[in-house]
Amino acid sequence: MSAKPTVVVTRRLPEPVEQELARDFDPRLNREDRPLGPDGLRKALTTADALLCTVTDRLDGEVLAVEPRRARLLANFGVGFNHIDVDAAKARGIAVSNTPDVLTDATADLAMTLLLTVTRRVGEGERHLRSGSWTGWRPTHMLGTQVSGKILGLVGMGRIARAVAKRAHDGFGMRVIFHDPFPPPAEVAAALGAEPRERLEQVLAEADFVSLHCPATPDTRHLMNPERLAQLKPGAFLINTARGDVVDEAALVAALRGGRLAGAGLDVFEREPQVAPELLAMENVVLLPHLGSATRETRVAMGLRALENLRLFFQGSPLRDKVV
Ligand code: 8YV
Repeated sequence: MSAKPTVVVTRRLPEPVEQELARDFDPRLNREDRPLGPDGLRKALTTADALLCTVTDRLDGEVLAVEPRRARLLANFGVGFNHIDVDAAKARGIAVSNTPDVLTDATADLAMTLLLTVTRRVGEGERHLRSGSWTGWRPTHMLGTQVSGKILGLVGMGRIARAVAKRAHDGFGMRVIFHDPFPPPAEVAAALGAEPRERLEQVLAEADFVSLHCPATPDTRHLMNPERLAQLKPGAFLINTARGDVVDEAALVAALRGGRLAGAGLDVFEREPQVAPELLAMENVVLLPHLGSATRETRVAMGLRALENLRLFFQGSPLRDKVV
């Protein structure tokens, strides 16, 4: 029997996934769970047959150029792969896979959580109570903004946006509008009660709440720039569970300070794990540490999906979730 392929697992994974990996692979686990950094990634690429990597691994052209390289697959744990230079990988014949589908519901749930948390001032209310400042109920205390019956604007209409549309429309009676340069078939959108808009600007101008669901690419970098933030309806809220790069964080701070934006719910940031100090000081923003897919069920499912891609690859079968 040939030796099991060696897989460097760049971060700790849920226990059942690490156990399952050992059945068909020789996993090199990261027990201390510290990001490997460029040198550690280069070492992994030269010593393992594959990497099971995550969003915290910057696999850029320079790192992927390491020689003599042994790894032939980057099995990403996560759907977004903007941390991997896929063109460089492709040019070097390195395959890349990801884990779509399994994190759709968890991430959509978190987008709704952020929407409700920021509009109903949940974080602020909790801080207020815990600090001992609460003096009792009164009719005008900490009034928030209702979401039911209002307009939710989705930027991008992929799997996660569709799951958000369903929740917002069916669960909260919201009107849903969206813009996507590659929109789904009209009947798919109609079944979700979602109305397409030809231009992004229309979504920004019409929506009471805007939720971002596009991938991070060179084209979407700083999509929410000062001009686009200024196109939002006065008093709008912005939700980001996509990638930090999609929003110009400095411009967002300015829009919040200027009062045009009533608030923001953010799960992702431009320079994770750093967050603009101005945001940390604002009451009308809800800030989460990239928890989109962070449920036990989903993280196990993501791990098993990455494992399935590893198995297929080393069996010589087509990858289920081929990126390149
Ligand atoms: C992941 C995510 O937890 O899958 C994605 O794209 O943003 C998160 O849900 C993270 O990227 C893991 O690599």
